[in-house]
Formats: sequence, C-alpha cells, structure tokens
Amino acid sequence: NGKYSVTLVPGDGIGPEISKAVEEIYGAADVPVDFESVDVTPSLINGITTIPKPAVDSIYKNTVALKGPLATPIGKGHQSLNLTLRRTFGLFANVRPCRSVEGYETPYKDVDTVLIRENTEGEYSGIEHIIVPGVVQSIKLITKKASTRVIQYAFEFAKTSGRPKVLVVHKASIMKMSDGLFVQTAKEVGQQYPEIELGFELLDNTSLKLASNPGLFKDVVMVMPNLYGDILSDLSSGLIGGLGLTPSGNMGEKVAIFEAVHGSAPDIAGKGLANPTALLLSSCMMLQHMKLNKYGDKIQNAVLKTIASGPENRTRDLKGTASTEHFTRAVIDNL
Ligand code: IPM
Ligand code: MN
Repeated sequence: NGKYSVTLVPGDGIGPEISKAVEEIYGAADVPVDFESVDVTPSLINGITTIPKPAVDSIYKNTVALKGPLATPIGKGHQSLNLTLRRTFGLFANVRPCRSVEGYETPYKDVDTVLIRENTEGEYSGIEHIIVPGVVQSIKLITKKASTRVIQYAFEFAKTSGRPKVLVVHKASIMKMSDGLFVQTAKEVGQQYPEIELGFELLDNTSLKLASNPGLFKDVVMVMPNLYGDILSDLSSGLIGGLGLTPSGNMGEKVAIFEAVHGSAPDIAGKGLANPTALLLSSCMMLQHMKLNKYGDKIQNAVLKTIASGPENRTRDLKGTASTEHFTRAVIDNL
C-alpha cells in the first residue's frame, strides 16, 4: 500500500493513551506509516530478561520503532526492560534534544541543546556484586569501541545539523581511567573531523552552566558517558518545562527506537490526563530519520502551536486544563 511499516510498542501506564494520540494524529495528517503493535512483556530465560521473539523480529524487519514508556515487571529478578531493549538492538547513541517551546514560559529563554548519551555501558552495564556483606561494587565499564562509535555519531550529528562544536562532558579529573579513555578516544576521533571544533568540560561545570546560562550550548553537540547523559538530559528537560516535552532517539547500526524520556506515570494512567507531546515529538524525530520530514515538520508545528495557544489546550503537567483527548483534537485542528 506504499506505506512504511513501523513497530509500535505502546508501553505501560500512560503508554497506551499517548500512543493512541499519536496514531490519531498520524491518521489525520495522512502520514504514510502503518504501525505494527507488539507486546514486549519479557520472560526470564536463564536469568536474563528476554524480549518476545515476535517483537524482536518486528523491530528488525521494520528497522524503526516508536516506543511508549515501559515499566519493568517487579519481583521476578528482571533487568530493566528499557535497558534490555537498548542492549538487544545495540542502540549505542541516545540523542536527546531540548528546545524552548515558544508560548510556554519558563525562567529560561532560547534553550536549544543537543545531548548525545552513550547508551550501552558505563554504570548501566549491570555488573554488580557483593564483595562481603556491607561492601558492594557496581562496575562502570567503558570501552574504546563503544566510546568511538558514540563520539563518531556525535561528530556526524554536528556535521549534518550545522552545529559547529562537539563538547565532551566528562569527569576524567577523578575517573582518570574510564573517563580518561572516553576523552582520549574523542581526541582521536576528532582528528577525522577538522572542520568541527572539539571541546572538553567537566560534568559539574557543565551542570552549572546549563542551569545558569543554557544559551551557551546552542552551537554545541554534547556527548558523554551513559549516566551523565541520563542526568543532564533530565536537567535540560527541566529548563524547558519538563519531561512531558522532550523526545529522544536510540540509534543503532541496524535499528532505531524513538521514545519519550519520561516514565509510565502510573499515578495518572487511564485518567485521560497524560501529555502525549514527548512521544509525538519523538515520532517527529522518527519521521525525520525516515526522511519523511514533510510530515514530521507538519506534526511538530501543530504540536507547538497547540501548546502555545494557551492553558485550555495544554495538559496539567504544563499548567493547563486539557485532557489528552482535548489536546489531541487541538493538534489535529492545527495540522
Ligand atoms: C531514561 C530513563 C531510563 C534510564 C530508565 C527508565 C532505565 O530514565 O531513558 O532516561 O535511566 O536510562
Ligand atoms: Mn532518565
């Protein structure tokens, strides 16, 4: 039917509600995408959290997926389902842009940051053990291979997005070996990109600058190890109005999964209060990735216009009064 097939993981909590909003808006915007919904409820195989084969097959077949927030089943010894997805598909670069939404006031103006997070290792490797009772170790794993590919990705992103500078955020002053390797790798990769400026900054100092003058980062692509990216991306979201507004893309060699940065918000699930913006904007990143910019731009503009149009069209997380359904209809009217 001339349409692109995309895997949809509706997710848990508010996931199904915000996914439905995306599907409705896609229908109204005539986006040439057919969503293939899959269930990713994992099973434990030899103690390892494993995604059902039909879901894995669907994602490999389509190479692109849109994912709602997932809660990890509790009490069965599962590893994080979100992390399992990233690991299963080798999604090594997590791209998290943050831009002020015109018409939605925060104490910060003109925020425009791009953060690329290493997505497979660091403190997220899941290697932990008890040495003796009362003494534990969580291993922070940094490899040259994973560092190289995410830093390369950051340089390529800088090139194509027109941002002239890659900024490596690290703490090599203390973690001389692990962050030292990340920094050293960046210096080596940087030699292949003489047209891109390469800078280095300590994590604490970057946090200070982001919170006091985020405008300093508007020409910059930040790249950093996993945990730092997790933290600084939430900080960045806070500058523009919260996690309800920020999209992300998990990029791998074969597959890309686009997802909102927020969680499944069980407290408001099923109440029609959730803000689908982050998932919608993630889907716009997805459309850009699929070279369907025309549709991505159209939906993004309609979403931003809706948020700017006043509290009656905004959900509660954005100091508004709109239900998910009302917001969705307003976006469709603004297409
Ligand atoms: C995120 C989330 C995840 C993370 C959780 C849900 C495992 O906070 O995508 O930033 O820590 O990476
Ligand atoms: Mn996070």
